[in-house]
Amino acid sequence: MTATRGLEGVVATTSSISSIIDDTLTYVGYNIDDLTENASFEEVIYLLWHLELPTKEQLQELKEQLAENMELPQEVLDSFKTYPLDKVHPMAVLRTAVSALGIFDEDAEVMDKEANYQKAIRLQAKMPAIVAAFARIRKGLEPIAPRKDLGFAANFMYMIKGEEPDQIEIEAMDKALILHADHELNASTFTARVCVATLSDIYSGITAAIGALKGPLHGGANEQVMKMLTEIGSADNAESYIKDKLENKEKIMGFGHRVYRKGDPRAKHLKEMSKRLTEITGEPEWYNISIKVEEVFTSEKPLPPNVDFYSASVYHSLGFDHDLFTPIFAVSRTSGWLAHILEQYENNRLIRPRAEYIGPGMRSYISLDERK
Ligand code: SDX
Repeated sequence: MTATRGLEGVVATTSSISSIIDDTLTYVGYNIDDLTENASFEEVIYLLWHLELPTKEQLQELKEQLAENMELPQEVLDSFKTYPLDKVHPMAVLRTAVSALGIFDEDAEVMDKEANYQKAIRLQAKMPAIVAAFARIRKGLEPIAPRKDLGFAANFMYMIKGEEPDQIEIEAMDKALILHADHELNASTFTARVCVATLSDIYSGITAAIGALKGPLHGGANEQVMKMLTEIGSADNAESYIKDKLENKEKIMGFGHRVYRKGDPRAKHLKEMSKRLTEITGEPEWYNISIKVEEVFTSEKPLPPNVDFYSASVYHSLGFDHDLFTPIFAVSRTSGWLAHILEQYENNRLIRPRAEYIGPGMRSYISLDERK
């Protein structure tokens, strides 16, 4: 038995949800470019969960179900106030809150298909409410109840900021949510599938996935990109900053990908959005620093930007606190995680690979007295 480091190139399951072939990403056969241009995030959620785009009636029903299920149990909201608010990372709060939601859902352990679908709706709906409520509570503000007349993206922004976003902001948010919704067998999705393949419940699967997304080699990279852009401060400093980091063998966040070689097809959309939004906010420097970093880094290493690179300046321009960037990724990716969890339940087998043992050979027990 020989191990494959990081399971690179290992095909671990079949799936009908998303595919990456020759650097083209599709959701259930629809090119991501097409969906980003034309669909809403709610349509994409429906597509990922039903493997077909919704009719008008089906879309309306899903939108209503999501809007109706956004409110959080009071116990979960109250628990936020007991956290060390100035220290805790919102991803840790999200992970804990999803786990707590499982405690307050009477059907958490019910394993039939319809019950699991209803839980998926409830959980997807509550994800933005968790992020928004915590974002406000830690600033000493009261959480804002969702509005039934707003779509998912608009409601998310409204619950965070307390004011209705304009059309440009809603469109940008909707596109960003679509672009992050699913991505084949990335680390967090694999984590979710491994968890529920033991026939554990949906809340456990999403809690595990959030833990995996949190790391800086995965979803946590977008926050680190913003930290880097802030440290660079001006496009003129980008070259020396990046070269210094590379000389010290440090990774540059937002670049490279396990699967893509020529480039991440999501990055070009986020790059365009970054250019437009930073112009609108009167802070074009964030885009200018970003393109300079891309130019310098890719001239040193042939590793194009991934989804996390330009999403940083996009989320900054939309006015979000920098430590909310990864939670926003999680809100979107929950749609994909849930699709994969439902798919796993439909055709389940325990996921249990092997390890190549590289420890000591057979040894005899030495009693405590004789051990040195
Ligand atoms: C996401 O998998 C998905 O689908 C994830 C995702 C999704 O939608 O779910 O696309 C979202 O997680 C995007 C990735 C976010 N992470 C980062 O931006 C962190 C920076 N990137 C890297 O750490 C890295 O590129 C990974 C983690 C993304 C991929 O890691 P791999 O495939 O294990 O590659 P590696 O670390 O083994 O690197 C191979 C070589 C190494 O050089 P050598 O030792 O061979 O000389 O490439 C170099 C690495 O040092 N390298 C980088 C680099 N990325 C790879 N060098 C500097 N900066 C980088 N960013």
